[in-house]
Amino acid sequence: MKKIVILTGAGISAESGLSTFRSADGLWNNYKVEDVATIEAFEYRPDMVHKFYNELRHIMNKAQPNLAHYAITMLQSELLDTEINIITQNIDLLHEKAKNKNIYHIHGRIDECICLNCGQITKVGGDISSVNSCPHCEVMGMLKPNIVFFGEMPKCLNKVEKLLAECNLFIAIGTSGVVYPAAGFVQIAKENGAKTYLFNLDKADNVDLFDYHFYGKASETFKQFAEDLLIEQESSL
Ligand code: APR
Repeated sequence: MKKIVILTGAGISAESGLSTFRSADGLWNNYKVEDVATIEAFEYRPDMVHKFYNELRHIMNKAQPNLAHYAITMLQSELLDTEINIITQNIDLLHEKAKNKNIYHIHGRIDECICLNCGQITKVGGDISSVNSCPHCEVMGMLKPNIVFFGEMPKCLNKVEKLLAECNLFIAIGTSGVVYPAAGFVQIAKENGAKTYLFNLDKADNVDLFDYHFYGKASETFKQFAEDLLIEQESSL
């Protein structure tokens, strides 16, 4: 059984119309991280943080997958004797909308909130604010977007560690390689013997850690790579 790990970042969602973080018109050029993406910001001005994620939720709810997401769907359904797991830094649900499987959101999801009182996670479709009460414990003002803020521990790391230890092919798509621990996953996979590929619009900070890199739009570069994998499989049958 071949095991492939695909790490995705904001770049895979760019062609679906979603902003990345560090490009010229990226989210972090229009908002200060310390105002909307830290636990201190949430404690000090919760409704400013809620407003940021409420706006993002409306935009993400309307976004549709692009050819890069569908290329993963194609590989997961057509590559024989291969397990493909997706570790995504993205909080959008484009992998789910493209019917990708085995998705691990290490930075959380835009469609969930977590109660800081009872810890219960609740699905969120519309806006939340500090006047909402938790549907489980009914305490008001303790609902936080279930998104990993800077300074918080990413999710699913035990599962990620196992996937990186076992994979023989590690593919990163649309990530600048500046935020850890995700930016270090390629090193772990490589040390465990995996071949490593990067598909990114331009140079990523950790590009030297990859065996191969393809610059360009993921809907073109990764789609072509996926098609080539299937042609290779066909010719070996
Ligand atoms: N195809 C491929 N890559 C693209 C495309 C595209 N169409 N468009 C942009 N990119 C690349 C950019 O070149 C950039 O290197 O995607 C990368 C996006 O980088 P960032 O904006 O830094 O996003 P990401 O790497 O996902 O950020 C990681 O940082 O702020 C935190 O939690 C946030 O999950 C995020 C994490």
